[in-house]
Amino acid sequence: MTEQHEHAAISDGAHQDGPTPSSGIAVIAKDAVPNPGFPPERPRVTDLDPKAEKAQERRIIALFFVSIIGSIAAIVLYIVFPIIPGDMHSVRNNTMFVGAAIALALLAVGVGVVHWSKALMHGHDLVEERHETRGSEPTRQRAAEIFTEANEESGFTRRRLLRNTLITAAVVSPLPGVVLLRDLAPMADPVPLLKHTMWEKGMRLTRDPSGTPIRAADVTLGSAFHVIPEGLNELPHGKLEEKAKAAVLLMRLKPEDLHITPGRETWSFDGIVAYSKICTHVGCPVALYEQQTHHLLCPCHQSQFDITHEARVIFGPAKRALPQLPIAVDEEGYLVAQSDFTEPVGPSFWERVL
Ligand code: FES
Repeated sequence: MTEQHEHAAISDGAHQDGPTPSSGIAVIAKDAVPNPGFPPERPRVTDLDPKAEKAQERRIIALFFVSIIGSIAAIVLYIVFPIIPGDMHSVRNNTMFVGAAIALALLAVGVGVVHWSKALMHGHDLVEERHETRGSEPTRQRAAEIFTEANEESGFTRRRLLRNTLITAAVVSPLPGVVLLRDLAPMADPVPLLKHTMWEKGMRLTRDPSGTPIRAADVTLGSAFHVIPEGLNELPHGKLEEKAKAAVLLMRLKPEDLHITPGRETWSFDGIVAYSKICTHVGCPVALYEQQTHHLLCPCHQSQFDITHEARVIFGPAKRALPQLPIAVDEEGYLVAQSDFTEPVGPSFWERVL
């Protein structure tokens, strides 16, 4: 069939089926997928049995009542379990009870509505014709006229300076919003905050979470201690932020098992070593110690660190050894830090100098 004949055939088909479709919705008849039609509608049990319909209605009403009770319970629980500033237990109780009540209320009303539409509302198939996206010719012409009139009356294209300053003002107006993003960062320079922890010379290593100091004699061969700096629990503010940087793992190995690089000979005490607990991948706590192999495992993405070789990475996505905390023992036999970490803890960040 020539192209001319094909066009004629399409045009003829369109005239036979109804009004000529606009260019936006015309379909070439020979490529159209045959319409399979709708399957015959099957009546539901609620369409046939009024008793079943009534039973479903009662069930849905019960669900709505459950939802009402859940909403009221959320208000009551909010009052019964108030949030007390500084008390994490109150925050946990409030969140748990109020959240559970709201979840119950939303779940019940959601299930009820879906059940109502499926079991009781009449189901029938509808065909909705897609209407043309293109406006009629008179509408299009009128729109063009309005646009031209508005342009002439406003002088938008004629008054060029006016137009350009308006465009510039519109472009510049979101900039204050960008500046306000600065408020999302800490007021202090974040780089020093990330580079230093609260460890300092002479600060005792204490048990997490009790804060009791640790004697070197308490650390037996093969044992591991979760450690926080002395005084962390007494901090009035920012306790969690400091702990997130300063948490340490303390282990004792046979001194002959440790492979120490020059410069670190004095950083351990009689086989006792301390390493940052913050994974150098993305900062999870590296809390699993395998005492037979002396490996530390990060549970987040399975990075493994070898304590016998200064916590170097032996497996996983971490790229850097865990920073070591230099330790010593004070005159009373307690373990103390010799200084802060000598490099930033945790994942690498933009200012890191390796
Ligand atoms: Fe430790 Fe990813 S955070 S392996």
